[in-house]
Amino acid sequence: MSKSPWWASTSIYQVYPRSYADSNADGIGDLPGIISKLDYIRDLGVETVWVSPFFASPQLDFGYDVTDYEDVAPEYGTLADAQRLIDECHSRGMRVMFDLVLNHTSDQHPWFQRSRSSRSNPKADWYIWADGRGKHGRKPPNNWKSAMEFTSAWQYSPVRKQWYMCSFLPFQPDLNWRNPEVKEAMFNSVRFWLDKGVDGFRLDIFGQIMKDPGLANNPVRPHFYNGFPRLTDRVHTENTPDNVTLAKELRAVVEEYPGDRVLLGEVFGGPQVLRSFLGDGDGLQLVFLFDFLTYRYDADWFRSTISEFERNFPAPQQPTYVLENHDRSRTIDRVGKDPAKAKVLAVILLTVRGVPTVYMGQELGMSNTALRFKDALDPVAATVYRRVPQAVADRMSERLNRDEMRTPMQWDASAHAGFCPDGVQPWLPVNPDYQRGVNVAAEHADPDSMLNLYRRLFALRREHESLRSGSLAMLEALPEGVLGYRRNDIFILANLGEQPATVRYTGEVLAQTGRVVLANGRTTLFPDSSVILRTVVPKMG
Ligand code: GLC
Ligand code: CA
Repeated sequence: MSKSPWWASTSIYQVYPRSYADSNADGIGDLPGIISKLDYIRDLGVETVWVSPFFASPQLDFGYDVTDYEDVAPEYGTLADAQRLIDECHSRGMRVMFDLVLNHTSDQHPWFQRSRSSRSNPKADWYIWADGRGKHGRKPPNNWKSAMEFTSAWQYSPVRKQWYMCSFLPFQPDLNWRNPEVKEAMFNSVRFWLDKGVDGFRLDIFGQIMKDPGLANNPVRPHFYNGFPRLTDRVHTENTPDNVTLAKELRAVVEEYPGDRVLLGEVFGGPQVLRSFLGDGDGLQLVFLFDFLTYRYDADWFRSTISEFERNFPAPQQPTYVLENHDRSRTIDRVGKDPAKAKVLAVILLTVRGVPTVYMGQELGMSNTALRFKDALDPVAATVYRRVPQAVADRMSERLNRDEMRTPMQWDASAHAGFCPDGVQPWLPVNPDYQRGVNVAAEHADPDSMLNLYRRLFALRREHESLRSGSLAMLEALPEGVLGYRRNDIFILANLGEQPATVRYTGEVLAQTGRVVLANGRTTLFPDSSVILRTVVPKMG
């Protein structure tokens, strides 16, 4: 039997470079800052670090708008720093993944500057250009919508008298991946980083790269999708079969290298669509399963969601669960900032079968920072804020202003939570709760902290093969409100209900949160508690 690859049982920690640690007192996190915290990450027990984009960029979408895929933005450091980041992860026994924005570039990328200059230049066909409709072509080519949903995906260029497509925001033109020169150039940038030793990539909006070349209108059908309203079914712009073909081509590029380099896709869709991106083991190795981002704090919800992904991602496929990231609300805010509930969620995330991903600060129980919409630096918030009143935005569980989840990492109780020196203005304000114990230093000293729970859970994953690679079986006939599953010899039980509940399981307690009482071969879980038990097999003779 072949040994399963490293990524199949790894754990991933997402670092948002702008907000992790500022090494040179300009208020902006940077690569040397991240490097200075790698011991912290290693001691947390994480196995793989994923760093959000730090490539050359005007930073209108904070790095998701690239002007050079093979260079580092000066505020983040140099190419030598990027190399050092890779090497220093490796020397600590960790893996490192970078973030590839393949779908679009910045409109300031030299390729686009050239492309927009005429209809006949050498880069003319590097982006998705089309003639408009109507007598003078001043109507967009079709009904495709941008990520903002209520605006067209098309932008007009008076120079070319044509429209170019932007799946996300108007300054992020979509590359034309049907042009072999584009593919070649981008694959070479992928090789550029593989040559430096990066262990893999997170792939930004991967399901949106290949659109219908015939530009057919998407069918109109207002509905809710992933927590947000949509006017159309995006059958011609998202998850088309050609994206799966592209996944296989990209896989072939990483297979040119030794060491099982990994591709992790940001893809949205139902379980079967997500599964299709893995091909027959020849596509992406992993895709994010975003359902936990919009979890219901409810045992039945977790039971059915986990079961559904178990059916669709059977071993050797690995589900890749995520509770929070740089785009979506912090976990703890979805449960009324209740740390007991957030701890139960941490136990679930780190004990279900698959690859868990943790967003920087999640391990501290960091919460969304209340910020005024109109001050937003996030271009998404800046786009929608005139349409959505502050009072409405405040009440939404989805956060329209992504700045709220991107405020600096909270290291200690000193000025700016130790993110940057006193007297320096951090690029976003620090959440004031760092002064109330939500910071690394304070939590390090508190055995009951969120941080120490995450450390314990990561340690358990490293120690117990059952948690890394064991199968998952749901426990049946549990009291109402209780979620339970078994990973070989390890049992995980969590009470998400409102009443204490007693179950007929017992064993050695590997970890617990909240109030749990073991007596007479039974375990009683009080509301918002959880326990990880190892069944102890009696010694014979
Ligand atoms: C992804 C990123 C997000 C970015 C967008 C456009 O959803 O996670 O931060 O703004 O793609 O690249
Ligand atoms: Ca800096």
